[in-house]
Amino acid sequence: MSKATAFLASAAIAIALAGPASGQESATPTSAGQPWLNPGLSPEARARAAVEAMTLDEKLRLIFGYSDQAVTEISKVPDDIVSQELKAYVQTRAVKGSAGFVPGVPRLGVPDQWQTDASMGVRNSLIPSTALPSSLATAASFDPAVPRAGGVMIGAETRATGHNTMLSGGVNLAREPRNGRNFEYTGEDPLLAGTMAGSLIEGIQSNKIISTIKHYAVNDTETQRTTLDVTISAEALRQSDLLAFEFAIERGSPGSVMCSYNLINGRWGCENDYLLNTVLKGDWGYKGFVMSDWGAVHSTAPAANNGLDQFTGFCCVTDNPRFAPPAMKAALQSGAISQSRLDNMVERILWALFAKGPVDNPVKAGSIDYAAHALVSQKAAEESLVLLKNDGDLLPLRGVKSVAVIGGNADKGVMAGGGSSDVTPVGGAVMLDEHTFMPSPPLAALKSELPRAKVSFDAGSDLASASALAAASDVAIVFVTQHDSEGYDGHLELQGNQDALVAAVAKANPKTVVVVESGGAVFMPWASDVPAILEAFYPGIRGGPAIARILTGKVNPSGHLPISFPASSDQLAHPDLPGLGLPGETPMHITYDEGATVGYKWYDVKGYKPLWAFGHGLSYTSFALSGLTALPDGKSVKVGFSMRNSGKRAGKGVAQVYVAPVDWKKAGWEAPKRLGAFAKTDLKPGKARQIELNVDPRLLATYEAANNNWHIKAGTYRLMVGQASDAEMQSVDVPLPDSVWSAGKADR
Ligand code: BGC
Repeated sequence: MSKATAFLASAAIAIALAGPASGQESATPTSAGQPWLNPGLSPEARARAAVEAMTLDEKLRLIFGYSDQAVTEISKVPDDIVSQELKAYVQTRAVKGSAGFVPGVPRLGVPDQWQTDASMGVRNSLIPSTALPSSLATAASFDPAVPRAGGVMIGAETRATGHNTMLSGGVNLAREPRNGRNFEYTGEDPLLAGTMAGSLIEGIQSNKIISTIKHYAVNDTETQRTTLDVTISAEALRQSDLLAFEFAIERGSPGSVMCSYNLINGRWGCENDYLLNTVLKGDWGYKGFVMSDWGAVHSTAPAANNGLDQFTGFCCVTDNPRFAPPAMKAALQSGAISQSRLDNMVERILWALFAKGPVDNPVKAGSIDYAAHALVSQKAAEESLVLLKNDGDLLPLRGVKSVAVIGGNADKGVMAGGGSSDVTPVGGAVMLDEHTFMPSPPLAALKSELPRAKVSFDAGSDLASASALAAASDVAIVFVTQHDSEGYDGHLELQGNQDALVAAVAKANPKTVVVVESGGAVFMPWASDVPAILEAFYPGIRGGPAIARILTGKVNPSGHLPISFPASSDQLAHPDLPGLGLPGETPMHITYDEGATVGYKWYDVKGYKPLWAFGHGLSYTSFALSGLTALPDGKSVKVGFSMRNSGKRAGKGVAQVYVAPVDWKKAGWEAPKRLGAFAKTDLKPGKARQIELNVDPRLLATYEAANNNWHIKAGTYRLMVGQASDAEMQSVDVPLPDSVWSAGKADR
């Protein structure tokens, strides 16, 4: 560790900011004559009162956001698009290096909005911060407390670095295993994804700041993401991608929603009346505001009228001036946008600022205990890494005298994903082949966990040398990495010589462990040739120690897969990615005719055996489930069972409750089972715990578009409990009566 790194990691540091160094003097709540500053009033009343007090120009300030590039270049923007006064304000107030900035109204105590990416931590190119494991990794914890704790931590860094709005809470379903952003999301199942993303948001917002769920909606691939038109039925939407958003919004109550780049059923995400007005603001009764993804705005009046509240991410001088006040003023003058719509846009933004805390708790520069935060990230990784295979109990490593560590830049760090979630880590990023690695080398961590063993390293570029080291060692650990990034979709095949490397090392030493650092699923043609595999995802700023502590048994692994790993390309719902290889922004179209049959549901319907199934994950102990009961409970079903640690070590078991009508096809279900509930529990050897869970009624129902209803069809339903989607399960049948209710808020 360099001196600078050691200092950063161990000290509590006060961050010097370019922007709101001393908070917002003007936002100090003094309610005399300014009722919106009275915290005793409801956020709704405060927002309404503040809108009434605003001039047109003040309202317009709140609905346009400037990207970091725009902040830098704003002096070049013509004065008739952005006034000189506003340009000066933006330049002096914005936190440089962040995602974006929205000017506030100091006269009224309405704060600026300092926006930062994203779900792994504060992403500011000029400020170091603590990176969590990828969101897909923390979803693998199957424990909402893990993303929640992560959210509390990254939200604290957001506040201490002078930001009050996080662009965090990615929940797009892993419908396409090659999606370059799956690592930013929380898996393929609506309940798991929604619960985990909602918990992250809840943790972030506990810091009295806003978090932003994204990317609404069906932005499930990156190829041609700004022009891809996705066709999908309303029924499928409500039972898959939108259900994940619905669960996450209910759990996390984010202040804002980011609409996506793509088109959905012929309409841009950021001017999609069905998604924004009918579903989000109508059926779900959402009170916050919709902000655009950066560059996802295509019009002024249609966007505003179809539900966009904040035109965010104005890029640069060449960008379309529809982002600027004159276009909006013209639309108001011509009647293309009504005054009441503009007021509603502003009121929603203000509601979030009042309800989530930024007005009453102005952000200001503060100190960050990076050492404590690193431990939060390490714990998240330790709860999340998934032991896929452990034949002959090769792991945990015991009594080994020599260990060969091979490949994956394991001497330098652990891989991270690319794009807008790419945190500048404390200690500095390690850049290798233009990919970011976190400065947390597994090699050093293994050496410190195995002080009596000789731990040697080979980079893995030469198969003969790697095999020779493996053959001369008690155990070989091969690290393989797969880079994924925002902006393009990835591969399922490991790149370079990595498959050949694993095969060669496994041949040289039968005691070979493979550690996979990947954004999502990868093929493993060597899976049956190695006894042990650990899926480490992108494990964050303390990935090295987390991996080492799991491999050596300090930590008993407890992660379970939040996605299915396909065995081959033939198993994919869409073998070809539309537009792959064509110039960017080529208009493209895809029909998701698999509908809600996503992930394990697709494998079940097709009868495919994945390489690794959704929910799979091993432990160094074992768990037994027994005594399953299920009883109707209103529209829900209450499930009870006991989980016992039947092995010899303490550990955390994950119970997964699946549900289906016995005749699922007749009931119009998309698949023979859905995840209905899950729980993780910590048990000492021999100890048992009784677990009771409720299945959300929407997971027992189908969505009927004609009447906007959820409908549980009368019949016999099978409740199953197991430890993976493909595991043997206990089951019990329960009759359920017919039940129909509105998918709108009013009838919940
Ligand atoms: C990404 C968003 C991100 C925004 C701001 C966009 O390109 O899609 O996820 O929040 O940039 O950086």
